[in-house]
Amino acid sequence: MKIAIGSDHAGLALKNEIITVLKELNITWEDFGTNSDESVDYPDFGEKVAGLVSDGKIEKGILICGTGIGMSIVANKFPNVRAALCCETYSAKMSRLHNDANLLVLPGRTIDGKTAAEIVKEWLRTPFEGGRHQRRLDKIKAIESRLCK
Ligand code: RB5
Repeated sequence: MKIAIGSDHAGLALKNEIITVLKELNITWEDFGTNSDESVDYPDFGEKVAGLVSDGKIEKGILICGTGIGMSIVANKFPNVRAALCCETYSAKMSRLHNDANLLVLPGRTIDGKTAAEIVKEWLRTPFEGGRHQRRLDKIKAIESRLCK
């Protein structure tokens, strides 16, 4: 599995902590920036990562901004992307079990590195449950197809 990761300036510090976790887990990753504290616009970085997941070029993505809200809004505009903003491990687990989330969004300004590491680990190790949840994802896909006509 390969992970595409990106952030704005408000998510940079947490992004670097998460990259350390990915290294520890031996997971291949690619960093799509930003890589300085200079103020940038989160849609520019969200688009890079969500676009790759949307096109199926990369299996999963992680995006971080200050609250996680802006990145969530951007990522969920992309077809096939199911982005989940998670601030604790329960949501991370459920976003995989029930929603088959393929993009994890984290808030750089409201959770610490330890919490983020636990969220990332839980998210990466939890499989999709399928069954009735697949039916619900199929309905989301149908909505997407109608809207993208
Ligand atoms: C940047 O100041 C901040 O607005 C951004 O990181 C994010 O929280 C937006 O939703």
